[in-house]
Parts: sequence; C-alpha cells; structure tokens
Amino acid sequence: MPANVIDGKALAQKLREDMTEEVSQLKAEGIMPHLTVIIVGDDPASKTYVNGKKKATHQTGISSDVIEMAASVSEHELLEKITELNQDKTVHGILVQLPLPEHINEQKVIQAISPDKDVDGFHPVSIGKMMTGQDTFLPCTPYGIITMLQSYNIQIEGKHAVVMGRSHIVGKPVGQLLLNEHATVTYCHSKTTNLTEFTGNADILITAVGKPNVIKQEHIKEGAVIIDVGINRLDDGTLTGDVDFPSAAEKASYITPVPKGVGPMTITMLLNNTIKAAKGLSS
Ligand code: GUN
Repeated sequence: MPANVIDGKALAQKLREDMTEEVSQLKAEGIMPHLTVIIVGDDPASKTYVNGKKKATHQTGISSDVIEMAASVSEHELLEKITELNQDKTVHGILVQLPLPEHINEQKVIQAISPDKDVDGFHPVSIGKMMTGQDTFLPCTPYGIITMLQSYNIQIEGKHAVVMGRSHIVGKPVGQLLLNEHATVTYCHSKTTNLTEFTGNADILITAVGKPNVIKQEHIKEGAVIIDVGINRLDDGTLTGDVDFPSAAEKASYITPVPKGVGPMTITMLLNNTIKAAKGLSS
C-alpha cells in the first residue's frame, strides 16, 4: 500500500494560525514579540532563508528586523552588536544566520547570544538543557520533525530511529529529541560502513545528508516512517530531497515530500520559539 504523505505545509499553516491568535493576545497584553536576524555577507541561499523568516514573522503578527553586515565585518563588531541586542528589552529573539565568513568563529558568536534569546536553540546552555530534558528553546528543524511525528500520531517510544547525518543543526539534535521520546537511536554518517544494514532496520528514518536520491526503496524497511530533511537543487532548478520519493513511498507507511515536508515546519518552530521568548518561558 502506498505511504501516507505527511503534509508539512498544511500542518505548518494550521500551527501558524494558532500562533497568530496567540500573538494578538500577547499584543493585547502589551507584549510585542520581536525577532532580530543578523545576516553577514551576501550568500544567496542565506538571503532566501532570511527573507522567508522575515515574511513568516510578519504574517504571524510578530515584528522582526534584519541587520545586514558586510562579509568583511570583524568578529569584534559582530559580538558588540549581539551584546547590544542582548541588552535591548524590546528584542526577544536573536538569530545569526549561518554559515558565517571564515574569519569569524561561529561558536564564539553562538555563545555570545543570551540563552534567553536563543531562538535557534544552538547555545550550549540550550543544548545542555535539551540533553537533560529541561524546558528550553529546541532547534527549529528537529523540533519541527518531532512535532510532525506527534501531530500524525506516529509512535516514537520503543521504535528504532536511524538518523543519517550528524550536523549540529539537524542530525545530532534530532537524535537527542527522539531519544528523549524513548526511541532507540542509531546515528549514521559519512564514515558509516554497511549503511543499508542500519537504514533497512529503521522504523523511523531521518535523512539529513544533502545528496539527492541516496535512499531508495531497497534501503528501507517495509512500513518505515521516512522523514526527508534534504533540500537539493538539481541542474534543472527543481528541488528534491535525499530520498527517491516515488520508490520509497511504495514501501513506507509515512513519508515527507520535498518541498512541502520538513521545510515549512522549520520556520514555524522559529515563530514558536520567538513567542516563547517573548513570554519569557525559558528563564
Ligand atoms: N543556516 C541553515 N539553517 C540555519 C538555522 O536553522 N539557523 C541559522 N541561524 N542558520 C542556519
């Protein structure tokens, strides 16, 4: 039987409607949720992502501004700007778009953001709280994935979840969140040998590899849940995930498409985190 397609776009839309309602209530109480995004340099992909974030905040009634800094900006200047934003009571969330130019130490920048405003969930304090199961800002893509699974009533507890990829942004944290939900978690990465031994044994397979069609029908278990985090642009301009969707969909029980799967959930969770920051829940 063909898989159920998880509609990330529709779910994101529904969640955003609820958030719009919550934002208007906060405004009525005199709280104006505000996100400040910093972008350094003019990487086209980063610009597209930042524009998407700006548009989504405005649609939800959240105010936001984007600070554009030249690629040549010094690390010191960027850190000073973050210090200023940390002290600004009208700013609830701070997001520095990654990647940063090579002369800037990414970890130093992430750690300069106040954990109370860390809507990306990348600060070591946020990561430590996530690992110990405390309330905190969760990184947006992993949080979006867990929200999707829960919204579709897909059981996580006791299941074997296999995560392909070990980035700080997606792979590592999504594995931790699945573990927090009582899955048995296996991480696979570029140095894993016998990859299909693991993927073929996954009840839930998360692919965050960044290579088109690396997962096909023969690599997955009958009835598996497939979450495709890959966003790959082909030569003809079309977007595709890490999974060969048509063949995998014949064998999986649930599968996310690309686009309209995980992507719309990521920005939605950023909105969620910004509202949470405005309410001061993380402190
Ligand atoms: N670059 C790619 N994804 C992300 C993200 O989720 N947050 C930030 N700050 N930068 C990114």
